Amino acid sequence: MKGIILAGGAGTRLHPITISVSKQLLPVGDKPMVYYPLSTLMLAGVRDVLIISMPHDLEGFRRLFGDGSQLGMRIDYAAQDRPNGLAEAFVIGADHVGDDDAALVLGDNIFHGHHFYDLLQDAVRDVDGCVLFGYPVEDPERYGIGETDDRGRLIALEEKPARPRSNLAITGLYFYDNDVVDIAKNLRPSARGELEITDVNRRYLAQGRAKLIDLGRGFAWLDAGTPESLLQAGQYVRTLEERQGVRIACVEEIALRMGFIDAESCHRLGEKLASADYGKYVMSVAREFGGSAAGRSAG
Ligand code: TTP
Repeated sequence: MKGIILAGGAGTRLHPITISVSKQLLPVGDKPMVYYPLSTLMLAGVRDVLIISMPHDLEGFRRLFGDGSQLGMRIDYAAQDRPNGLAEAFVIGADHVGDDDAALVLGDNIFHGHHFYDLLQDAVRDVDGCVLFGYPVEDPERYGIGETDDRGRLIALEEKPARPRSNLAITGLYFYDNDVVDIAKNLRPSARGELEITDVNRRYLAQGRAKLIDLGRGFAWLDAGTPESLLQAGQYVRTLEERQGVRIACVEEIALRMGFIDAESCHRLGEKLASADYGKYVMSVAREFGGSAAGRSAG
């Protein structure tokens, strides 16, 4: 499966912060926002990722991740000139997806919860059609909402409904089979001039090939699109990290745990960031897995 992180957009709700800096490069806790959606793809086992952003922001992402090989991944970059809609990701990313299934995650969506890895691995196993992820919200009239039958099959999708039929908001994580590329290429822009991901999902829904997984209330789904939610997301992450002594969305750790890199390589990545607690954490995880320090002092 190929992955796409959609990290463009105008970020107008965060102006003036995002006039000169991409929203998805802003800090959430002690790391850039884009680490969180990248972690989500990594936990799903995706190693080949395209980051799509506004042309003037691409360099920042490139400086952060390079070609991705240090994480045992391949990371490429592509420009979206204007926020033409989420479904444009599959037009821009058509070559990247090739003949594969595809996972799309929005660059400002943060997922955190128990058994996320297991849930993603189950979802990714056989994608026949599309798999969406729903999150129970208090104010469903503000979101795209999905309704399922008792087998988890999606039976209705509504955009910001006045009288919602369920409280399951559709989150910014989507798995598709390869048909998504053709579907996206044949979409017409909506009334607001965007290629809508909802129209893609409706196509699968009409074919009876759409699934909606309820993440459940023991889960956190945060989007960091406003000054308040950005601050809250950072506080949430730091509170958990400090309390538990583990880090959320530490991409070096995930690469190690997923078997993308070995403990020695992970330790080297930590050493490069050794002035920061983040780097010290990466080194300590690497040592747990038998990486460097012990061996070096013994030798
Ligand atoms: P939005 O929150 O809809 O838009 P935005 O991030 O530009 O913010 P604002 O409303 O403050 O102007 O976008 C959701 C995510 O998708 C976000 O990470 C930006 C990204 N996005 C794109 O990369 N390209 C697009 O064409 C659109 C519509 C969004």
